[in-house]
Amino acid sequence: MYVCICKGVSDHRIRRAVEEGARSWREVQQVTGCGTQCGKCACMGKGIARDAIKEE
Ligand code: FES
Repeated sequence: MYVCICKGVSDHRIRRAVEEGARSWREVQQVTGCGTQCGKCACMGKGIARDAIKEE
């Protein structure tokens, strides 16, 4: 499922960023670009990133 339309970032891509070492929403944004354009996806992206970080 696409979370971020602007940057074409899926929930899978966010989880992969965490698997690869991102440890905060800010780091996930830096790696994927999610939420860096219009910002509409930020709330959902942040939630997915936080859950993935908790599971690590
Ligand atoms: Fe993610 Fe616009 S949908 S920045």
